[in-house]
Amino acid sequence: MSKPKIFVARAIFPEVISRLEEHFEVQANQADKAWTKAELIAQLHDKDGAFMTGSDRIDADVLAACPQLKICSTMAVGYNNLDIDAMTAAGVLATNAPDVLTETTADFGFALLMATARRMTESEHYLRAGKWTQWSYDMFAGADIHGATLGILGMGRIGQGIAKRGALGFGMKVIYHNRSRLAPELEAECKARYVSKEELLKTADHLVLVLPYSAASHHSIGAAELALMKPSATLINIARGGIVDDAALAAALRDKRIAAAGLDVFEGEPKVHPDLLTVPNVVLTPHIASATVPTRLAMANLATDNLIGFFKDKKPLTPINPAVLAIK
Ligand code: GLV
Repeated sequence: MSKPKIFVARAIFPEVISRLEEHFEVQANQADKAWTKAELIAQLHDKDGAFMTGSDRIDADVLAACPQLKICSTMAVGYNNLDIDAMTAAGVLATNAPDVLTETTADFGFALLMATARRMTESEHYLRAGKWTQWSYDMFAGADIHGATLGILGMGRIGQGIAKRGALGFGMKVIYHNRSRLAPELEAECKARYVSKEELLKTADHLVLVLPYSAASHHSIGAAELALMKPSATLINIARGGIVDDAALAAALRDKRIAAAGLDVFEGEPKVHPDLLTVPNVVLTPHIASATVPTRLAMANLATDNLIGFFKDKKPLTPINPAVLAIK
């Protein structure tokens, strides 16, 4: 029996390509070309499955042009690049890569929070520019982390990881807001108190965004929400571009309506709103929260396991739209 044909949308670890080749006829993209929609269709139209990243979009047009496609396995946990309703309607399975990146991403969220509150990149630029000539009592004085109030918007697995780091490691008071409240034992484990979104915005010294992107979470933080925050507050976005109104945030940072922001994700990335590049009180990183070698390998291996499980006996590990499996 011939092997299923798989398209690997972007470059990936060579050992992952080798694993895939044991099970599939693989068309790889080790040159790491990013595809337009038409190019993606040209690559995918005769494939049975796709190994995807968070940058590749699957929508109704792509699905209509690729009738042979049965599964898109993304190595990201977030899947707002996949039109799940259209995939389900077309009978195409979607799988993602949760859990394996939780701790690494929570580490990064905390690192970005610390770098932002303690003004690390701003002060490094100052030093590198040769401007450090003497001590001064308020030179790059920032905000404390320990003992401060940590607000978390979106309390899934990564939010809970950040809560634990703050409460247990830094003696922070943790408050959170989420679509649904956590079970009491999880709240106790995270030492986190549920509050309204308004109280979260008004009370947090540091606010970390970890909610999934959807039409409902678009611009969850805009001018009105920023106006409720403390002028001394920091805002951290490790969730998705589009959850924050980047233009409104740049204006708030410029006018010092909040103290600082740390951003790993951007509206329309890899483009970054030009105003964010001109304000000094922002730490900017290129969507790398899950980027450690072991974690990226674990994500890629989980995406591979999902493809293998699906084609072997219709048993992927982490399906997003499992209803498709019932009708296959
Ligand atoms: C990264 O942003 C992911 O969703 O895995």
